[in-house]
Amino acid sequence: MNNKVVINTDVEKTKINKNIYGHFAEHLGRGIYEGIWVGEDSPIPNTNGIRNDVLEALKNIQVPVLRWPGGCFADEYHWKDGIGPREERKRMVNTHWGGVVENNHFGTHEFMMLCEMLGAEPYICGNVGSGTVQEMSEWVEYMTFDGESPMANWRKENGQPEPWKLKYFGVGNENWGCGGNMRPEYYADLYRRYQTYVRNYGDNKLYKIAGGANVDDYRWTEVLMKNAHWLMDGLSLHYYTMPGEFWTGKGSATDFPEEEWFITLQRALHMNTLITRHSAIMDQYDPEKRIGMIIDEWGTWFDPEPGTNPGFLYQQNTIRDALVAGLHFNIFHEHADRVQMTNIAQTVNVLQAMILTEGEKMLLTPTYHVFDMFKVHHDASLLQVDGQFEQYQFGEKSLPQVSVSASKDKDGKVHISLCNLDHKNEADLNLELRGLELSASKVSGKILTASEMDAHNTFEQPENVKPVEWTDVKIEKQSLAAKLPAMSVAILTLE
Ligand code: AHR
Repeated sequence: MNNKVVINTDVEKTKINKNIYGHFAEHLGRGIYEGIWVGEDSPIPNTNGIRNDVLEALKNIQVPVLRWPGGCFADEYHWKDGIGPREERKRMVNTHWGGVVENNHFGTHEFMMLCEMLGAEPYICGNVGSGTVQEMSEWVEYMTFDGESPMANWRKENGQPEPWKLKYFGVGNENWGCGGNMRPEYYADLYRRYQTYVRNYGDNKLYKIAGGANVDDYRWTEVLMKNAHWLMDGLSLHYYTMPGEFWTGKGSATDFPEEEWFITLQRALHMNTLITRHSAIMDQYDPEKRIGMIIDEWGTWFDPEPGTNPGFLYQQNTIRDALVAGLHFNIFHEHADRVQMTNIAQTVNVLQAMILTEGEKMLLTPTYHVFDMFKVHHDASLLQVDGQFEQYQFGEKSLPQVSVSASKDKDGKVHISLCNLDHKNEADLNLELRGLELSASKVSGKILTASEMDAHNTFEQPENVKPVEWTDVKIEKQSLAAKLPAMSVAILTLE
C-alpha cells in the first residue's frame, strides 16, 4: 500500500500568486469590532485602535491582500458614514448580521491603516445593491485622486494628504442574492455602467473585479463573460464547504460523526470541479487567461456555536478545518494560471477564522497554522506533480487518501505540501524527486495533526493543535519515504 508521487523539480509551471493566500474581513459579528478594532481607549493593548495581538499574528502569516467591508454588508455600506471625526460618525444598523448597531468607527481610513500595518494590499468591495454610481465613483476619487477635487480635498481635511494606492476594487458582492437578487443579464449591464465611473486616477491603476457566480451557477459566468469580459480584470466565485445543507442545518463545527468528516472533505474537493468548469467558460472568452478567477469567499460554514448570536456566524475550528484549508490550497495551486486571488471567509471570529478572541484573550486556530506553514508557497513556481494514490474508503464511497502540491521558491528551495484526508489510517508516502540531487539536500518538515477528529484550540488550551517538527522522513535513493499520520497537514522543504 503506497501513495506514489513524482515531483519534477525542473518542470516549473505557473507562479502561485501570493494573493491566493488572501483574507476577507466583513462587518459581521465580532469580525471587525472586537476581533480587529477595539478603539484607542480600549484596555486591550492596541495600536491606533487595532488590537496588537491580532495584528502580530496576522503579520506573521504575511496576509497579502485583505477584502473589506463585505460580503453582504458591502451592498448596504455607505462609505461616507465611516469617515471624519469618529465621535461624529453616524451610527448604523447592521441589518444583515444580527441587527446590531455599529458606530462606524472602523471606516476607510482605519481599514487603509490596517492594511499598511499588515503590509497587505487593500481589496475594497463597492456597493451596487443599494448604492449609486456616484457614491461608488466618489469613493474611488476620495481614496486615490492626487489633486484638487471635492473628494480629494475632503480626504485631506480628514487627515490623509496623500492618496492611497488601491489596486483591487470589487463592483458589488453576490448580486445574485444579498447584493440585489439580480439576474445575470441585469447585473452584467449594471457592472458595465458602474465600472465606467470607477476611474484610474494618475498612476493608480485599478484591477476591477466583477461579482461572480454562486457555486455551480455556470450560466452566471457565461452571461458575465459574454457581456462584459473586456471590462473586467477579475471575476469572482463563492463556494462554502459544509457537511449539511445551507438552510436546514449545516452541521456542528466540533460535534460530528465520522461520516461528516468524510463528507466535509469530499465537498472541499468539489472546489476543483467548480474551478475547472467555470474556467472552461472563461477560456472561451479569454483564452489568454488575462482575467483572474477571484475566489473571494471560501471556507467551512458550520452551525453557529450554541449560545452565540446566530447572526454572528461564530464557529470553532478543528483539525478538520485545517484539512479543508490544506486541500483548498493544493487545488488553488493547480489552477494558478487562472486563480489569481482567493480570500478565506473570514479572518477573525467569523466562519473559518484564523483567530478567535474572547475579551483580551486570543487563540490561533488550526486553519491559522496551515496559512503559516504554507506561506512558503507565496509567489513560488508551481512544480509538476504526478501521483497514484491509495483510496480513503468510507462505506461505498472513497476519495484519494492524499493531496500533494509542490513549488520552488526564488532561492531554489522546494516545498511540498501534503494532506492525509483519512481519519483513521496513516498514509505510506513515496515521493520521488526528479531534477535534484536528493542525497545532497537538507530536508526539514512541519506537521499539524491530532488524534481526535474534533481536536481544536480553546482559550484554556490554546496550543492543543499546533504544528511540530516532522523529522520522520527518510531519504531512499531519489525518493523521500514517510508515513503521514491520519488527519494531518504537512509541509516539507528541501534545500
Ligand atoms: O461570509 C459570510 C457571507 O457569505 C457573506 O457576507 C456573503 O457574501 C456570503 O453569502
